[in-house]
Amino acid sequence: MSNRMWGGRFSEGPDEIMEEINASIDFDKKLYMQDIAGSMAHILMLEAKEIVGSEDAQKILHGLDTILREIEDGKFQFSRGLEDIHMNIEARLAELIGPAAGRLHTARSRNDQVATDFRLWVRDTIDVIDGQIAELMLALTEKAQEHANQVMPGYTHLQTAQPITLGHHLLAYVEMLARDRGRFADARKRLNQCPLGAAALAGTSFPIDRYMTAKALGFDKPMSNSLDAVSDRDFALESLAAAAVAATHLSRLAEEIVIWCSSEFNFIKLSDKFTTGSSIMPQKRNPDAAELVRAKTGRINGALVSLLTVMKGLPLAYSKDMQEDKEQVFDAMETLSLSLAAMAGMIRDLEPENRFMRRSANAGYSTATDLADWLVREAGMPFREAHHITGRVVAAAAEKKVSLDKMTLEDLQAIDARFTDDIFNVLSAANSVKSKTSYGGTSPQNVRVAAKEWLALLNRK
Ligand code: ARG
Repeated sequence: MSNRMWGGRFSEGPDEIMEEINASIDFDKKLYMQDIAGSMAHILMLEAKEIVGSEDAQKILHGLDTILREIEDGKFQFSRGLEDIHMNIEARLAELIGPAAGRLHTARSRNDQVATDFRLWVRDTIDVIDGQIAELMLALTEKAQEHANQVMPGYTHLQTAQPITLGHHLLAYVEMLARDRGRFADARKRLNQCPLGAAALAGTSFPIDRYMTAKALGFDKPMSNSLDAVSDRDFALESLAAAAVAATHLSRLAEEIVIWCSSEFNFIKLSDKFTTGSSIMPQKRNPDAAELVRAKTGRINGALVSLLTVMKGLPLAYSKDMQEDKEQVFDAMETLSLSLAAMAGMIRDLEPENRFMRRSANAGYSTATDLADWLVREAGMPFREAHHITGRVVAAAAEKKVSLDKMTLEDLQAIDARFTDDIFNVLSAANSVKSKTSYGGTSPQNVRVAAKEWLALLNRK
């Protein structure tokens, strides 16, 4: 049998393989709520503009309401033969209310319909993700405040660089996540225009009111160009790009958690709730959640590249290629959402191993730069000269196999006579971080101020 929706000029039904490659119902059923909302807005507008009579419009609204309940109660029979969510719903509407159902598709095409549904889904999802990012920021900020004083080594090239505070490190991620929220908010702003009423590609000769449907669906305005309205997927690309950057941030944090949990670092302890054991090695506490967050970034970044590749060669307007947009976006957003939840859980429960962090913060000649800065400040040396002398001090300490603060004043004065006793005040990690009071620097005082500002901002909503 040929297709009930478009089979007028066909005498044969589709091949089984055609049905399989063509059908999207297995994944786009997720759009049922948005599809019904879009149809309701559309029929109310058609009624208001007297394009469809009130009696039929009311029947259609009633039928759509019944379908919504059927789907939510798990009673709806989805059919692959009907391709997608749009035709599944319309076919059921016809079963429920008869030929009046056929009036719903006046001045509309599946092209503007799917673009509208998908925008609504992405918009709703961005709102959920925004809240989840804020949650994670809150968890990080609370930890940062609690550990504003905790020294740890800061790294460049993963080599000990200078002491920092754990609070400062965690707040660095808060900054990144705030920018992620900004990217999603930007994407949402551009996304929030309504394609409905663009019809297949050219607009329609019916006297529709696109402002009315746009408003009913919470859009800022209708999209201005009917071709663009059905062809554009940059709202999805932009949202995926924001998701990919956010996921990349999560992955970096996940990687640090994995490193910090290793027995070589032993900087933190994850809770039992976010670790797993080994079936053979009884001592193990594996940071699986962090590893999976790190790995899932691959899926999210992949989704962006995948959809960019789908779109790059498409002529205007709609091509069926665009049906491949949904699985990528659904998967990427759901994956990001799960990763955010897992990360927030890990951070909330995480406990620093204070002693190990402090020991590492003081190791690796981490305060060599403080020593050089002291020479500049107290002996009036140019920094380059101070750097060179400090290099010689480090070499001497390495030779003696001691840390900088275990060098004697005589040892130091043998290298440069200008060293005084005062130098020992700058050689501990604690004093080093305390001195970094420049704007944005790692001092505990700065961390406390920044954490307080973030908390005020995050708790405001
Ligand atoms: N399932 C389709 C999609 O997701 C709906 C639009 C189909 N339009 C068409 N002209 N065949 O893109």
